[in-house]
Amino acid sequence: MEEALRSFFLQLAQNKAMNSWAKRYGLRFGANRFVAGETIEAAIETVRQLNRSGIAVTLDHLGEFVADESEARASADYCVKTLDAIHAAGADSSLSLKLTQIGLDISKDLCLENMRMILNRASSHDLWVNIDMEDFARCQVTLDIFRELAASYEKVQTVIQSYLYRSLADVEALTEMGASIRLVKGAYKEPESVAYPDKKDVDASYLKMLDVHLPSSGLTSIATHDENIINYAKRAIAEKNIGKHQYEFQMLYGIRTDLQQSLAKEGYSVRIYVPYGDDWYGYFMRRLAERPANVQFVLKGVLH
Ligand code: FDA
Repeated sequence: MEEALRSFFLQLAQNKAMNSWAKRYGLRFGANRFVAGETIEAAIETVRQLNRSGIAVTLDHLGEFVADESEARASADYCVKTLDAIHAAGADSSLSLKLTQIGLDISKDLCLENMRMILNRASSHDLWVNIDMEDFARCQVTLDIFRELAASYEKVQTVIQSYLYRSLADVEALTEMGASIRLVKGAYKEPESVAYPDKKDVDASYLKMLDVHLPSSGLTSIATHDENIINYAKRAIAEKNIGKHQYEFQMLYGIRTDLQQSLAKEGYSVRIYVPYGDDWYGYFMRRLAERPANVQFVLKGVLH
């Protein structure tokens, strides 16, 4: 039943008609539990609150699968605006973005042009930019673009998903080049031909990736709410004497806030992924797919 619901929400996440409906009607159905608001002002207020409790942020102006060039350019401009707002607020935040948001599905050249514009602005503010990982079809091209950009920009990071069979080899190659990476389990609907169908294999693959990257020179962002993995990481950090600048824990806004706070209180670096904007639908559906019990937020939102 859980697997069927997961699959249902991941199918819904790709529904274009529902997405444009959601954009028109604003944050609804309890989505504000996972999304910090529709405006940059609301997002910056959330960043400030988290920063006050000693927690860093990565801000994401929501958007993905853009098929129109002017929309892709407008999205890239929004990323620049977000960097400017972080800088103006003196906030402790990086930027996260998706390549399909800034033109990957239109052309690699357009996407690279937009990425360079964003990274130039990030460099001038001394801020990090993370390239989120999307579905398997876009994995290789995302890594190609990341490698090209990492050759000229220092503060750029990407994401590797432990559910893909290929990921351990990708982590090994990225570790060799000293890259900074965020490790996640993976949030898209992928076939058995490319991704582990069983959760226990996805979790085991995560630990292997962690073992490879944690001792490396690049930053390891341990992005998970899974306490088994977090405790494993804590032990590895202590046993291998991993320096504070080599790793951080990352979690999503609105998920396991208790754990976010307790890790920060224990003195670990914690960074929260805070999404904002009107393109919240696909992101929200993926959060429902991860934990179908979240549907109670939808029901509360409907009845409200
Ligand atoms: P798991 O799914 O096993 O969950 C462990 C526990 O966390 C659950 O038992 C529950 O308590 C809690 N939990 C997890 N999800 C929840 C939810 N939606 N609602 C309520 N509780 C929940 N993916 C991707 O494909 N590309 C990317 O670029 C990113 N980026 C990213 C950044 C950051 C900072 C994080 C934390 C995650 C991502 N992800 C991602 C998402 C990731 O792939 C994965 O889907 C989620 O993190 C859920 O997996 P966990 O590792 O938390 O484990």
